[in-house]
Amino acid sequence: MSERKATDIFSEWALNGKDFGMQDHHSNAVDAMLETLTSSRSSSFSFVDAGCGNGWVVRKMSSNPQCTISFGIDGAEEMIRKAKMIDPKGNYIHSDLLTWVPHEAFDIVHSMEVFYYFKDPEELIKHIMDNWLKPYGQMIMGVDHYHENIKSHSWPTDLNTYMKLLSIDDWVELFKDCGLEEVKAFQANAKYDFPGTLIVHGIKGRGS
Ligand SMILES: C[S@@+](CC[C@H](N)C(=O)[O-])C[C@H]1O[C@@H](n2cnc3c(N)ncnc32)[C@H](O)[C@@H]1O
Repeated sequence: MSERKATDIFSEWALNGKDFGMQDHHSNAVDAMLETLTSSRSSSFSFVDAGCGNGWVVRKMSSNPQCTISFGIDGAEEMIRKAKMIDPKGNYIHSDLLTWVPHEAFDIVHSMEVFYYFKDPEELIKHIMDNWLKPYGQMIMGVDHYHENIKSHSWPTDLNTYMKLLSIDDWVELFKDCGLEEVKAFQANAKYDFPGTLIVHGIKGRGS
């Protein structure tokens, strides 16, 4: 059978309710990501979730008093339909991440379990740097499919979709090559059989 598009798979997940299981599964790592973004921040910020699924992180962030606007973008039509059903006044957009360009750039770009679905993640990160992020904006990415998480190596076969397998160092270098500064990586929510979600965080310098 030919490889499936990730967005088609996740539209099915929205229809059969698997999105809520995914939300539970990702929530500890996302809490660590949001803590990294907001713990030392005193100024207000705009926020966008790249590959937002049913929009749960968009809603979580919009309840933060410092957050002025919270957007979610996803290429799975049914995920966006569900996000709008749960939160009709929310900002949810159905689009491929590589083609979407906001009217106004954001202070924070967040993305959980999305970047490895791209054959060329560098193209996506550069697109986000050029079009989505303000100077001094923060970008944070979480992934569970990475080289050091051996159990994740079978996922492309299990799901019959493309996934890019990179190591921790590869992701850090990619962020730096795309112009992100102060790049830091850590693993959150590790358990006895899981090395943790790889989280990579960086800042867009004024010149990038
Ligand atoms: C593993 S899910 C994670 C969803 C959400 N971040 C969460 O934690 O619940 C990956 C998401 O990325 C989206 N996605 C994958 N490729 C995409 C693309 N090219 N453009 C937009 N969204 C994409 C999928 O539709 C899916 O909702």
